[in-house]
Amino acid sequence: MNLLITGGCGFIGANLVRYQRQHYPEDRVVVLDALTYAGNLHNLDDFQADPGVKFVPGDILDGELVGSLLRDERIDAIAHLAAESHVDRSILGPMAFINTNVVGTATLLEAARAASIKRFLHVSTDEVYGSLEPHDPAFTEQTPLAPRSPYAASKAASDHLVLSYVHTYGFPALVTRCSNNYGPFQFPEKLIPLMILKALAGEPLPVYGDGRQVRDWIHVQDHCAGLSAVLRKGRLGEVYNLGGRAERANIDIVHAVLRLLGKPATLIRHVTDRPGHDRRYAIECQKAEAELGWRPQHNLEDGLRDTVEWYRQNELWWQRILSGEYRTWVERNYGERLARPDGELAPRKGLDSCA
Ligand code: NAD
Ligand code: TYD
Repeated sequence: MNLLITGGCGFIGANLVRYQRQHYPEDRVVVLDALTYAGNLHNLDDFQADPGVKFVPGDILDGELVGSLLRDERIDAIAHLAAESHVDRSILGPMAFINTNVVGTATLLEAARAASIKRFLHVSTDEVYGSLEPHDPAFTEQTPLAPRSPYAASKAASDHLVLSYVHTYGFPALVTRCSNNYGPFQFPEKLIPLMILKALAGEPLPVYGDGRQVRDWIHVQDHCAGLSAVLRKGRLGEVYNLGGRAERANIDIVHAVLRLLGKPATLIRHVTDRPGHDRRYAIECQKAEAELGWRPQHNLEDGLRDTVEWYRQNELWWQRILSGEYRTWVERNYGERLARPDGELAPRKGLDSCA
């Protein structure tokens, strides 16, 4: 199989490239990525000499480029992960989210339909379902979509587009909706890596509001195993929820990080809450477990310990982000053709928490 992974230089995409190479070395992987602030070619350093992985710089909004890529590389299947992915950024500037997540997905769908792609995996999020009260049952695939942030709304729009292609054109798509991921290579604007790096630096840890918001955490390797199972064994046209069965309040995650690093709880700072902050997400992933034989393997405590250890061991990786060096390198090699319209939001130096 020739598999195109869009967004393969991002957090989950790079982990998916790894998963693919480990479990399906006979398949070829082509990565299409626009190298926004979240795309980091160092995430694929291990594959520089691997003939089974090809990197193509480019934007999913460029229909011509995508069309010729699908044809020239004889792509059989697509795992579509390219997206603007950070809720706080979507509040500061929604247009980049609408462009990439909605128009970009539509552009990719059109190219994939024209190229008669055999399987199209659309990677989405539990955030499209909205927010739960403490005792509500977890989201199932039947839960109506009720997105509440510009990020979630743009992902919901793309889910609807993908499923409309299934119904209208018999397009061979599958949709996954996953809960909050953590693990190696996560950009340090998201909760867990941000807290790890702040704690390592002895800087204050910004907790939004009361910190009692609940997320369901899944190790990125479990997510990638689920994506691979859906891509290979899922029924076309179906939606599959993926989750870690590990609901935790943010404040408990932050305390756990501090404990693992031997840092004091006095570093915690409760800061102004995120506007429209969703209170709780929880995923029921029984359908994927029953149909695909997949289940999350990591428990959160071990996964968190391993993740903290990964950030300790890979200081060069995150120092290049903090110093902005990873961007300088991209600009030197790929120049302005990869500049994003929302470039002013891209962090060039230091951690830029939106708190
Ligand atoms: P990320 O922000 O780390 O990476 C996104 C990647 O997409 C980057 O490499 C970026 O350069 C690339 N990209 C962005 N716009 C592009 C464009 N127009 N053309 C080509 N490439 C572009 O995101 P992530 O956390 O790895 O998430 C990947 C996917 O998984 C997203 O679709 C996201 O909605 C979904 N998801 C994420 C989570 C999570 O917890 N991180 C949970 C569920 C679903
Ligand atoms: P985040 O990693 O941005 O994921 P999402 O918003 O997609 O769930 O945030 C996870 C939770 O952590 C969310 O409830 C917001 C909260 N949070 C903080 O309290 N402080 C922070 O600095 C960040 C980035 C997030």
